[in-house]
Amino acid sequence: MTLRIAPSILSADFARLAEDVVQVERGGADLIHVDVMDGRFVPNITIGVPVVRALRRVVTVPLDVHLMIVEPERHIEAFADAGAAMLSVHVEVSPNLHRTLEAIKVLGLQAGAVLNPSTPAKAVASVADLVDFVLVMSVNPGFSGQDYIPSSPAKVRAVRALLDKAQNDAPVEIDGGIQPGNAADVVEAGAEILVAGSAIYGTENPEAATQALRNAALAGTPTTLHGPR
Ligand code: DX5
Ligand code: ZN
Repeated sequence: MTLRIAPSILSADFARLAEDVVQVERGGADLIHVDVMDGRFVPNITIGVPVVRALRRVVTVPLDVHLMIVEPERHIEAFADAGAAMLSVHVEVSPNLHRTLEAIKVLGLQAGAVLNPSTPAKAVASVADLVDFVLVMSVNPGFSGQDYIPSSPAKVRAVRALLDKAQNDAPVEIDGGIQPGNAADVVEAGAEILVAGSAIYGTENPEAATQALRNAALAGTPTTLHGPR
């Protein structure tokens, strides 16, 4: 398994985004996770295509764009053109999920299917042979800084089993309330990509917090979020 840490810029300072992503890259971030919200699928409105395009100029690692929007299929080309490397859509708003994932893959991006906490793992069964990754939400989407839902490792295990059955070694990503105290549990359940917003940008030192999250995930031991000033 390959562990990847994906800091979510939703908790960063949007007035100094370039500096904030450089900090986590220094801490060993493997991806930068970008949360796109439309105020319809989720209550919150965040950022979109222009910010992805701007980030692409300063970020050296792949951009992992998480679409929390209705009708995501209408925006795939725009996000691809802006420089997304991974693009994920929620199954709850994708009646033609298979077609939407194909449309992402055709553009050369990694295609992900996302499950809300109340959506069962079996909702991705029909695309288990097609997806490049599955994102399991461990909070209800919409905001950073929420508490992790404790049943999330079971969901990760169920998704991993579906992918294994389809002989697909695509990784399971987990997003929401991830911090050093639960990182080992979700990795043990089969998560390979860990998204974290407040556990990284809510600290004094996002660089050290990125390293701390990786160490906790690898070692399975709680670590402090605060690095040296
Ligand atoms: C929530 C977003 C997450 C969020 C994670 O809807 O999808 O990516 O930024 O933030 P934390 O890690 O603080 O829960
Ligand atoms: Zn996200």
